[in-house]
Amino acid sequence: MKSIVSVLVAFLLIGALGIVGCAKKVEAPIADDGGVAPTGRLKIGVSMPTRSLQRWNQDGANLKASFEAAGYEVDLQYAGDNDVSAQISHIQNMISGGCGALVIAAVDDNSLTEVLKGAAEANISVIAYDRLIKNSDAVAYYATFDNEEIGRAQATFIKDALKLDAAVAGKDSFTIELFAGDLADSNADFFFQGAMDVLQPYLDKGTLKVLSGQTTREQCAIPNWNTGESQKRMEGLISSNGYGPEETRLDAVLSANDSLANGITNALVDAGYTADDFPLVTGQDCDTASVQNMLKGLQSMSVFKDTRKLASRAVLMVSSIVAGEEPEINAPDLYDNGQGLRVLTYQEDSRVVVKDDIQTVLVDSGYYQPADIGL
Ligand code: BGC
Repeated sequence: MKSIVSVLVAFLLIGALGIVGCAKKVEAPIADDGGVAPTGRLKIGVSMPTRSLQRWNQDGANLKASFEAAGYEVDLQYAGDNDVSAQISHIQNMISGGCGALVIAAVDDNSLTEVLKGAAEANISVIAYDRLIKNSDAVAYYATFDNEEIGRAQATFIKDALKLDAAVAGKDSFTIELFAGDLADSNADFFFQGAMDVLQPYLDKGTLKVLSGQTTREQCAIPNWNTGESQKRMEGLISSNGYGPEETRLDAVLSANDSLANGITNALVDAGYTADDFPLVTGQDCDTASVQNMLKGLQSMSVFKDTRKLASRAVLMVSSIVAGEEPEINAPDLYDNGQGLRVLTYQEDSRVVVKDDIQTVLVDSGYYQPADIGL
């Protein structure tokens, strides 16, 4: 009897995920009490962009643990160090290897159109994880944070810390340099747009000045969000504009995330800045290195995006699809896939973290153990 029920459940799951092409791979699970478990032991392909940033190691580990805890099997792959062709070949293998759903943080938001045609043909559900995937109608759902709002929060931090609203146009001015993420990452665009919405009026009035003159996203983008590249660009800006504690004043650096901020901080420390006179430096992710820099006064803020919540959101989305239900979404109209198709989105909350929040937000919540951040 049990095996008949198992077979029935397997068929229901196959129908719900529409994975007829991979039917032989789907097994109905047996719960500990010998009954049929509520979710299928479906294989979920999880494709992460790189192992070289803390963020994605955490996301991969959280996704694997959360999917496994919900009864799924997981094929977790990292695309080397942001290697587009490795990501495409992993996804190909996931499709042919019987995955029932794919959760993908794309290296390049525009490079998965071809490979995802295979997912669409096999009716495999695809969830864009953190980063929007463009130009693929295989991608129906997106689990992320409010990325434009994160850019706005970084810029608002600078605006408030420098008291730009109290500055007298034409008299008071502050210097800033801008750092954006990889051009192939759609999030980098949202962060930059959000930040520039806030900063542009002050740039227009001359209250904020970018001495390098580099203000477009293309001029400010750091390939692969790489810390070393970011450090090199900051070193170049320091030498070409004469920034330094005793030289030309630098009030702030808008950095889209922590991996960029770490390179910027290294360059500023090498140029002689100390915690006493450190320019404002923003960030995002609350990586351990940045949290330690905040504790030392060498980075001003970061944005905390709880990757545990994002992983759970991806699991909830898949589980809803398995149950034949529409996943919960809270941003139905915000994103389209570049071809006019809406991508149904759930945005998790994020929050600004400064030095004084580290204990309550990051340690008391169990996100970090004190030893992780040198406490
Ligand atoms: C993520 C950021 C991350 C960056 C670099 C972005 O897509 O949203 O959290 O810092 O990629 O990995």
